[in-house]
Amino acid sequence: MNADFTHKVVLVTGASRGIGRAVALAFAREGATLVLAARSADRLAQVESEARDLGSEVLSVPTDVTSRDAVAALVDAAMDRFGRIDVLVNNAGIGKVGAIESAAFEDDVRQTLQASLFGMINVTQRVLPVLRRQGSGAIVNMSSVMGRKAFSRFGSYAIVMHAVSAFSDSLRQEVAGGDIQVSVIHPALTATDLLKEAEEAEMPPPFRHMTPLSSEDVARAVVVAVRRRRRRVVLPRTANMLLLGEALSPRVGDVIATALTRRPIARVLGMSRGKTYHETIASHPSL
Ligand SMILES: NC(=O)c1ccc[n+]([C@@H]2O[C@H](COP(=O)([O-])OP(=O)(O)OC[C@H]3O[C@@H](n4cnc5c(N)ncnc54)[C@H](OP(=O)(O)O)[C@@H]3O)[C@@H](O)[C@H]2O)c1
Repeated sequence: MNADFTHKVVLVTGASRGIGRAVALAFAREGATLVLAARSADRLAQVESEARDLGSEVLSVPTDVTSRDAVAALVDAAMDRFGRIDVLVNNAGIGKVGAIESAAFEDDVRQTLQASLFGMINVTQRVLPVLRRQGSGAIVNMSSVMGRKAFSRFGSYAIVMHAVSAFSDSLRQEVAGGDIQVSVIHPALTATDLLKEAEEAEMPPPFRHMTPLSSEDVARAVVVAVRRRRRRVVLPRTANMLLLGEALSPRVGDVIATALTRRPIARVLGMSRGKTYHETIASHPSL
């Protein structure tokens, strides 16, 4: 993809808040034209207005990505208005905290699969023919560090994030040979509303002292991933130590995950640099 995003059409799902909002605004600053999708029309309208203030042309389409009809209408609306889609950011999703033995676990897996995986599949299947006709484009899928190493009490989310990684890996190879690029982003804990319903004590233990990334950190990584045709981005880079340990052996991965539960070690590994997730959320009620 050309490094210049001016007038490139970027479709962002889950754009109403958190990482998706930050991604939309980051591309707006780059001069892109935006198509914004999420369920809540009010919040979407707010992000639309912020992006317009940055000079972007914007179409927002309230959409539930789990509905095939709604996704078809989203892509049709984008094509009617702009005639092309250059970048798809598959970001919409949910996350639940809870042990595998909890009564809600199976439902948590189903709901997360529905929103975060099947939603991604729906949107990709609708947008990919557009990119193929154009002969170019980029797809960015939002996974998580949890998509490569699961933590306890985060099984439902980790299952789905691993599935997103596998989906991205297959997709990248299926479109290889043309000018369609596929990137997968693996951010660590990020300060958004995603886990705000979880009590601090219920959080996956390695998260307890962790300082979250900001949505803007992740958004910058998304822009760079498209610009530099990155296949996989792990954020922050120090999280690669955990993934490398896990690749060597689950025993080493577990030792690093356990070590992260201790603040001094989390600090040395660069994962505890200030406020925790709950402290950050409490000090910024509208992330
Ligand atoms: N926060 C983290 O620690 C973290 C870390 C790594 C990866 N991620 C991933 O980053 C992505 C964004 O999460 P976030 O942290 O920004 O969470 P968030 O603040 O809760 O935002 C989630 C977004 O997804 C949208 N969404 C959820 N279900 C949807 C559906 N069925 N149809 C359309 N839109 C839907 C929400 O909008 P509506 O409610 O308006 O539909 C919202 O815009 C997720 O895929 C998440 O797995 C998050």
